Amino acid sequence: MKNIIVVGGGGREHAVVKKLKQSPQVGVIYALPGNGGMAEDAECVNIAAMDIDGIVKFAYENKIDYAVVTPDDPLVLGAVDALEVHGVPCFGPRANAAVIEGSKVFSKNLMKKYGIPTARYETFDDEAAALSYLETAPLPAVVKADGLALGKGVVIAETREDAKAAVVSMMRDKKFGKSGEHIVIEEFLTGPEVSVLSFTDGETLIPMVSSMDHKRALDGDKGLNTGGMGTIAPNPYYTKEIAATCMETIFLPTIRAMKAEGRPFKGCLYFGLMLTPDGPKVIEYNCRFGDPETQVVLPLLESDLFTIMQATTFGTLAQTEVTFSDKAAACVIMASEGYPASYEKGFPMDIPTEVAPWVYVAGAKKDGDVLLTNGGRVLGVTATADDLKSALALAYSRVEKISFANAFYRKDIGKRALEAL
Ligand code: AMP
Ligand code: GLY
Repeated sequence: MKNIIVVGGGGREHAVVKKLKQSPQVGVIYALPGNGGMAEDAECVNIAAMDIDGIVKFAYENKIDYAVVTPDDPLVLGAVDALEVHGVPCFGPRANAAVIEGSKVFSKNLMKKYGIPTARYETFDDEAAALSYLETAPLPAVVKADGLALGKGVVIAETREDAKAAVVSMMRDKKFGKSGEHIVIEEFLTGPEVSVLSFTDGETLIPMVSSMDHKRALDGDKGLNTGGMGTIAPNPYYTKEIAATCMETIFLPTIRAMKAEGRPFKGCLYFGLMLTPDGPKVIEYNCRFGDPETQVVLPLLESDLFTIMQATTFGTLAQTEVTFSDKAAACVIMASEGYPASYEKGFPMDIPTEVAPWVYVAGAKKDGDVLLTNGGRVLGVTATADDLKSALALAYSRVEKISFANAFYRKDIGKRALEAL
């Protein structure tokens, strides 16, 4: 039996923990830091995901056999490199490969060099040059901070004034700190968005079932951008033909490009795609599992997650079975009213035991025996069923059985997907 740490503490990590627990090879799972809502599935240890020294020390002292590093920041900071130096094999890319998410300038230049389809773009490290480019750039213009910005570093500007204001806030006012020292300004693309997560050992790449995120806070895709208010899988826009095109023009070229650059990518490579009238294009790469995509993708995985993870580490993915069920899955995020702006927390939650197995807890803490809300996104309530319509109905019926003060959630998760079917 192997003892494992899972670095991170959100709903995605809860989904990873629950899936790993199904493996007969897995012993104790420690979540660093985890959250109070995961305590039945993992031993939560109060070490922050960014405390790399603390993570390494814990792994050493507790004879950890394997580490799953889930969030972007520790991956970009080199958590995998540090753990490997101390002999702990990891799921996740080293820092030199995590840069595919950590720097948009890097990923855009990679795509250009290797002919991987993406929006046309220019990069800037000088504010005046960016502002001058915007005098004549096509509109809408998409302005992106180079580095990690909690998913908030992208501005779609309809007017030159808005585009320039975005440049000034990133480059002059340093809204995202160092992440905005370099920026990308790119062409606005249209079409349905698809998330495709994949397992890769740097040579072989196996896509997981496709999914669709719902990023805006309110029904009808209104309101502010969030980390994601719900997901469904599979994504009905992502046909077999499109999947084959993506494999040939995007997925394999990307891992070959990373290898050719001396940055072999291992772990979960996430492709944020847009199915444009000119074919599928890359909107963004993430160096990790998506949140809340993971909450619909992993419940459909039929193979042993721990075996697959180890295969990505040790380079044996080609010989490893990875199968997904052909069912559908849905996840509805229950958030705190006000998210993603300001919200109150600390309200007691009632999650009946008959729905608890289907709930991935994102933001909660324990107060004695009581579970309290402790974040913007609080719960991911999920279901799987033979088809999407049934999965959505079941997920929403579970949502209705859960209560806490200030709860809010979108009522239209999966609506567009159902219309597309
Ligand atoms: P990101 O934070 O990179 O995931 O971007 C946030 C969202 O902005 C994406 O999910 C897209 O909906 C949108 N977006 C990013 N780049 C573009 C683009 N070039 N054209 C149109 N929409 C975009
Ligand atoms: N749900 C989008 C992300 O994880 O980046």
